Amino acid sequence: MATPASPPIAVVMAAGKSKRMNSGLAKVLHELCGQPLLAYVLDALEKAGVQRKLVVVGHQADQVRRQFATWPGVEFVDQTEPLGTGHAVMACGCALAGHDGPVIVLAGDMPMIRSELVEEMLCCLARTGAKAFLATAIVSNPFGMGRIIRDEAGQFARIVEQRDATAQELQIREINPSYYAFDCRTLFDALSQLRTDNALGEYYLTDVPGILKQRGEHVVAEPIADEVDVAGVNHRQHLADAHVLMQQRIHRQLMDTGVTIVDSRNTYIDSRAVIGPDTSVQPFTVIRGPVTIGRGCRIGPFAHIREECTIADGVQVGAFVEIVRSQVGPGTIARHLAYLGDSIVGANVTVGAGVITANFDGTTKSASHIDERAFLGCGAVLIAPVRIGAEATVGAGAVVTKCHDVRPGELVVGVPARPVKRTNE
Ligand code: UD1
Ligand code: CA
Repeated sequence: MATPASPPIAVVMAAGKSKRMNSGLAKVLHELCGQPLLAYVLDALEKAGVQRKLVVVGHQADQVRRQFATWPGVEFVDQTEPLGTGHAVMACGCALAGHDGPVIVLAGDMPMIRSELVEEMLCCLARTGAKAFLATAIVSNPFGMGRIIRDEAGQFARIVEQRDATAQELQIREINPSYYAFDCRTLFDALSQLRTDNALGEYYLTDVPGILKQRGEHVVAEPIADEVDVAGVNHRQHLADAHVLMQQRIHRQLMDTGVTIVDSRNTYIDSRAVIGPDTSVQPFTVIRGPVTIGRGCRIGPFAHIREECTIADGVQVGAFVEIVRSQVGPGTIARHLAYLGDSIVGANVTVGAGVITANFDGTTKSASHIDERAFLGCGAVLIAPVRIGAEATVGAGAVVTKCHDVRPGELVVGVPARPVKRTNE
């Protein structure tokens, strides 16, 4: 009886020096649409059901460890010297010693990898019975990438690096994005044969598929990735390009679930944001952080919502309104020029133009509670901590000083705000 195949394990190479970024920060920690580059690779693996993820660290290892210490299934492996991508995988020898099954190897600087692609790589490895499967892509500008060399029959032969390629090989547009699936034992056999006789004097992982092929093993390379899937980050221009591509991907996913994005090119949405259907995001809106927005809201133009915020259904957040670390109840409107920081806002509150919650006294941040159906007049300032009771009214220009809570239904006016009788009572 066949034994069930061992579940796949992943190796993510993230130990390189990232010289081309000119940065004090490890490349894989650079931010892309709200998360470090490495987060996208780990997410794709997690979604594809790969539980154990070995992250090879070296340059700025402590920072990388700290940032990903609590991620599910992540283990760190040290590569003491950055001697190349082949050497990075060799460093996982101990961690993978008992593993008899598939290994996915990815690069930490390739954030556009998708979980579907990882799944497909594993399927292809199993289906073809190959010892190595390479997801490749045909791109318009292959500069800098390893090229896929095929024989006359079109079968995979080897990978050649940009630096080591002949002028003719440089014409090839099928590239290696470093999306590999290997049989673990076969991989480590081949790694032991790597040499450093190349332009960089490094152990290239890219030599492994060619070594296997020469040994008569079955190696398959198929262009199952598209040009977007293989956008990597080697320098700052790449990072800017990846921002554009990742925004497009995020927006498309949101649009597929019923969110209107009026002008995708002029809207920024964090990869962690969750937005409900029939919400419309107007141009020049920035949503940064793990923000949750409900259904049927209208956000922007020029709205800025950041850090942990929960915006309920049917909320309107208009021009030049900034909301940070706050909860906003259903039906509340803040149409123009307001700042809500560390605020708990109830349902159907009206936040007038120019309302400010003064949440920071120079030392500590404090919360403002604004209960349901309260009305905040134009230019009102609430000095936190403070509570505005349900159906209370704060007159235009009033300054509610800290701890001077406004009772439910009360009307306060002036500076400092004091209660007055409602004229219609
Ligand atoms: C590599 C591939 C190239 C491929 C490209 C796209 C090699 C030799 N070349 O080139 O074929 O087209 O990726 O993905 O593999 N790293 C380590 N330890 C090291 C060196 C690198 O962990 O000693 C890590 C880096 O942190 C990075 C990844 O491996 O995340 C790739 O290294 P990088 O230097 O960016 O390789 P490329 O030049 O892009
Ligand atoms: Ca790279």
